[in-house]
Amino acid sequence: MRTYYCGELRKEHIGETVTLYGWVDRRRDHGGVIFIDLRDRTGIVQIVSDPQRTPDSYELANTLRNEYVVEITGRVTQRPEESLNPRIPTGEIEIYADTIKLLNSVRKQLPFQVSTADADPVREDLRLKYRYLDLRRDRMADNLQLRHQVVKAIRRYLEDVEGFIEIETPVLTRSTPEGARDYLVPSRVNPGEWFALPQSPQLFKQLLMVSGFDRYYQIARCFRDEDLRADRQPEFTQLDMEMSFMSQEEIFELNEKLVYHIFKTVKGIELQRPFPRLVYAEAMERYGSDKPDTRYGLELVNVSDVVKDCGFKVFREAVTNGGTVKILPIPNGNDSISNVRIKPGGDLFKEATDAGAKGLAYIRVRDDGEIDTIGAIKDNLTTEQKQEILHRTDAKPGHLLLFGAGDSMTVNKTLDRLRQAIAKEFGLIDPEKVNLLWVTDFPMFEWNVEQNRLDALHHPFTAPHPDDIHDLKTARAQAYDLVYNGFEIVSGSLRIYQPELQQQVFETIGISPEEAHNKFGFLLEAFEYGVPPHGGLAYGLDRLVMLLAKEESIRDVIAFPKTQQARCLLTDAPSAVDTKQLKELHVASTYKNAR
Ligand code: AMO
Repeated sequence: MRTYYCGELRKEHIGETVTLYGWVDRRRDHGGVIFIDLRDRTGIVQIVSDPQRTPDSYELANTLRNEYVVEITGRVTQRPEESLNPRIPTGEIEIYADTIKLLNSVRKQLPFQVSTADADPVREDLRLKYRYLDLRRDRMADNLQLRHQVVKAIRRYLEDVEGFIEIETPVLTRSTPEGARDYLVPSRVNPGEWFALPQSPQLFKQLLMVSGFDRYYQIARCFRDEDLRADRQPEFTQLDMEMSFMSQEEIFELNEKLVYHIFKTVKGIELQRPFPRLVYAEAMERYGSDKPDTRYGLELVNVSDVVKDCGFKVFREAVTNGGTVKILPIPNGNDSISNVRIKPGGDLFKEATDAGAKGLAYIRVRDDGEIDTIGAIKDNLTTEQKQEILHRTDAKPGHLLLFGAGDSMTVNKTLDRLRQAIAKEFGLIDPEKVNLLWVTDFPMFEWNVEQNRLDALHHPFTAPHPDDIHDLKTARAQAYDLVYNGFEIVSGSLRIYQPELQQQVFETIGISPEEAHNKFGFLLEAFEYGVPPHGGLAYGLDRLVMLLAKEESIRDVIAFPKTQQARCLLTDAPSAVDTKQLKELHVASTYKNAR
């Protein structure tokens, strides 16, 4: 019987005889004395065996290799002064192994060193293929522990303090309205018909409000077939919430308390409340982003009005065509950012053009206060215009001003990317800082350039701002995001609960009554039977844990994630299936190069 986990043992256990189970993290032979680091999910403890003091275990100890599975019984002993190890919690003690039982050996060569003590960085594809071994290592074991702590804190707070109940919603369902591609599942018993895996529990949670479960939550798996990035997986987990009879303010307050509780419980950090807020329009204006990282300054400065009539065509036309001219001012940017970097072929030029910019104009303020710039600005802007630009950007000797000019979306995207790159390069980001920011008043719709129509920015059930109902096309929505150090970790809205208004929103985005009925008829019908005012939000749980763990990819906080190509390297899914199985499902593949 196990008496303790390895990582639990401390000085106060000295003198006890304990039984431990675990894996050999590594074995060292110091001139006839064998040291074994024994590891389980709680950590590592040092085991000692030598021919004098522990003759019964010595022979076996000598044969142990990394990752063998053993049972060890022995005495907890004070480590001698010279071998104290303050780097691990068990570093003051060691166990003299009276007996060691070999429970299993390792029969194949390990694909990589599991021991964190002598491991080189391991390639991610290997880590994913042998994920069960990777999960033995400190980093992933800690991350999964943290994830568990976060979920536990969420459940305790929402259930015990706020009276939420968790309700599961179906995974085999109809298409849900989040706007990504669906994963589809063919129905065997209903030939020719398909389930969609949920992109979120959105429709069901709204139905639960109709049913009266006015504080619902769920730790919900969501599926989206979209382009993957470090913070996007095809299946991911949301903390999904919906509430009735609550205002946006009340929803914010409850969620701030929840976030406070999570940080306090798992990190010991006491966040300042209330969290700061920015309306969407201001976030875009000052940072060029609806999820700004506010741990550093580098705010953008709009100079459209200064250059709208200037002689430089690029600036003038940007403004007359309804676009904008903005500046990213970089204090002390002159020295480290050479012209080579901001002209064609340079890294910052590329950053800008990747975002859609056509070029990257600049002004430098030299040490003597004179300005250096491209000919087009030098010759075509008046002294007053140049002075006003310097004044507005508060430019001092050493400043570099980078310009974005064109349609507002491209300008914002360009300067947002440059702002982030510069902040990283100049070391302006304090990794210990936690900045949480509500971004509110998103627009209801965005223009879909490809399809030449308006799309719902959040989803079509989002309620418009009451002051803007007269012109839905340009209305603000009662929609909000919570941004954590530049990542969108929460998104939500108040919902429409008046059928007439819902109808108008569908019309605005070109969903006909028939299409609405086809897609969401069941929800619209439910709304005929007494729907309460309601609203909600969903946290990207993986993203939240990634940031708490200071990781850069959500793959590092998911036990069995997919690769960037949406594959599972461990099981080699997705995979081809038998034609027989496809036939049963009434499916024929049109793919020509089937493996
Ligand atoms: P949304 O689509 O914004 O809103 O998703 C909510 C949050 O989920 C996270 N997220 C993702 N995380 C990892 N991989 C992905 N592919 C991925 N996609 C989204 C983000 C995001 O903020 N039903 C609405 C919520 C609501 O209105 O209640 C919804 O799903 O952190």
